[in-house]
Amino acid sequence: MTAHKGLSHYDHLDLDDADNAEKIKRIYQNWADSYDADNDAALGTVSQPTMVELFAQFVSDKSLHLLDAGCGTGLVGAHLRKAGFTHFDGTDISDEMLAHAKGRGYGRLFTSNLAEQMPLDDDSYEGCLCVGVFTHGHVGPKALGELTRITKKGGLIGFTVNEDIYDDYAFDDAITALVEAGKWALKLHQKSDYMVKKNVKGLYVIATVL
Ligand SMILES: C[S@@+](CC[C@H](N)C(=O)[O-])C[C@H]1O[C@@H](n2cnc3c(N)ncnc32)[C@H](O)[C@@H]1O
Repeated sequence: MTAHKGLSHYDHLDLDDADNAEKIKRIYQNWADSYDADNDAALGTVSQPTMVELFAQFVSDKSLHLLDAGCGTGLVGAHLRKAGFTHFDGTDISDEMLAHAKGRGYGRLFTSNLAEQMPLDDDSYEGCLCVGVFTHGHVGPKALGELTRITKKGGLIGFTVNEDIYDDYAFDDAITALVEAGKWALKLHQKSDYMVKKNVKGLYVIATVL
């Protein structure tokens, strides 16, 4: 079996690969222990604190029940906690990444695949965050529908998209379709620093579910 090294493989995935979910699991299985160090030292990723700061601007009640979708090792949770949020769960496809998220403030941590239907009822959460997951070969814009399904009306969805795949995966079309269908009201759509050591920017999007 190929040894997937995580950092050197995570941006070589293909969304249309029939084996995509298994490859993602292998990559993050091998990356979990060094992910946080690479996040800072190799990539200079700033998406987690940036998204939490932007999201917090639209929230008055920090006890809202939130889901951090694709939470990985829980860096978003650590920033949510620091910002005063008290009630958030996390989900990820990788059990090894989830193991690191324990102790970072999450209530429930569970495995799921965002590219499929998550094991959650409609309207399960009062808000959702999804940071760093819409990137090379990970998860496509179809998952925006799934995040919408599990979020209560009036709730906020905040997510990032790596600028390198934004056009190729037609995120603009998906966002426009949700707005035009009356399912979302867009609150924020901006391009900002994402992985500063790689000189990669990301789109930061926040929408209210209608
Ligand atoms: C770049 S990491 C971001 C992790 C975390 N949100 C952060 O900002 O540090 C991408 C995460 O997405 C998860 N992931 C990738 N594909 C997924 C899928 N189909 N369903 C759920 N999680 C997925 C990976 O396991 C990994 O933890």
